[in-house]
Amino acid sequence: MSKDEDQIFLQNFMIIIVMMLGLICLFIILSQVLGSNEQSIARDRAIVLINQTQPIGRVRYNAASDQGEAEANTLTEQNSEAAETDPGKRVYDTLCTSCHSTGLPNVPQLGSATDWADRIAQGELLLYERAIIGFTGNSGMVMPAKGGNPSLSDDEIRAAVDYMVENSQ
Ligand code: HEC
Repeated sequence: MSKDEDQIFLQNFMIIIVMMLGLICLFIILSQVLGSNEQSIARDRAIVLINQTQPIGRVRYNAASDQGEAEANTLTEQNSEAAETDPGKRVYDTLCTSCHSTGLPNVPQLGSATDWADRIAQGELLLYERAIIGFTGNSGMVMPAKGGNPSLSDDEIRAAVDYMVENSQ
């Protein structure tokens, strides 16, 4: 080999080496870019997934329980309001209802104008008295004094009678 040929060979060799180095660099850069892209794509997907699933479930859950709570609150408010404003209804709902709303024979039923018309015509004083001291009608059906709960006050019984009469005309 002459000196010139050596020179040319060396040049070509260098060029090839440099090109290979360049290629290697390119691969490294490419792989990093692609790799990080994949990573960020995966992260984006995860975020999208989280956004699409978890918050929806949470929102539904919260919405449902909030609504439930709100309804429960309104119901309790309504109930306590009704109880406060109408002690008659409270007494009726806890005691008198067991006979006067269950369809027992010969027991005047709440809401039935025919059951109550004649009884109401007797005047409220007699109704109060019978509800307080107890009453056995012609049918032989017995109503215990104060509906069976002597711890109720006369006023509470009167209020319950008023409530029944108001709602049975
Ligand atoms: C154990 C069942 C029972 C319970 C509880 C009961 N009642 Fe009665 N009540 C009767 C029966 C039975 C009659 C009707 C009897 C008849 O006329 O033959 C009656 C009739 C009445 C009458 C009409 C009386 C009349 O002169 O016709 C009133 C008013 C009345 N009840 C109020 C009440 C009130 C207020 C309560 C709750 C504090 C109550 N009752 C709870 C059984 C019951």
